[in-house]
Amino acid sequence: MATQDELKQQVAQAAVAYVKGGIIGVGTGSTANFFIDELAKVKHKIDGAVASSEATAQRLRAHGIEVFDLNSVSGMEIYVDGADEITEHLHMLKGGGGALTREKIVAACAGKFICICDATKLVPVLGKFPLPVEVLPMARSYVARELTRMGGQPVLRDFTTDNGNVILDVHGLTILDPVATEAQINQIVGVVTNGLFAARPADVLLLATENGVKTYTR
Ligand code: A5P
Repeated sequence: MATQDELKQQVAQAAVAYVKGGIIGVGTGSTANFFIDELAKVKHKIDGAVASSEATAQRLRAHGIEVFDLNSVSGMEIYVDGADEITEHLHMLKGGGGALTREKIVAACAGKFICICDATKLVPVLGKFPLPVEVLPMARSYVARELTRMGGQPVLRDFTTDNGNVILDVHGLTILDPVATEAQINQIVGVVTNGLFAARPADVLLLATENGVKTYTR
């Protein structure tokens, strides 16, 4: 049986087939790290990358891949990132690594979102993994009360985001309508964004299973 890391590596390799050139949007997390290591092998084909976190930027630079500021590029063909949970509709729950806001911004600028996951991430309903919500520090208590009114149990993460904000991890939500919940939470004053990627879901899911990498598209 393959280990979870072996599955992550397989799916990272599969994603390289989508790298044709230009600038690549790169996500954050352990699966994205495997992708960065694979991307380094074809770096001669690309102009560089836009990073969704400081950690990703560091790893890209360590491989000699040029990292562009998002404001200096007009867009990119693909964005490649992992997820904490994903459904067959390609709605995702992300932010376990705390990079959700930059991930959502870079993904918004990309033509195609390619999600790379091992099979443990595919779920029928989102919400078993606590939903990360990035919040301006002064709004922390207010936003926590509002999330509690929605039926969640917010827990403050001991973490500061790359944007200088805090994260509330919301437990106990069963997210039956991810598009509506994403919008509803983003309406709370003080929320920067939440980890539901449903209004803009993935376009392609590459899922590493014991029987090889499966491809799902929208
Ligand atoms: C980072 O903030 C997250 O959105 C990651 O994409 C997510 O946590 C997946 O990470 P792993 O690939 O490490 O599971």
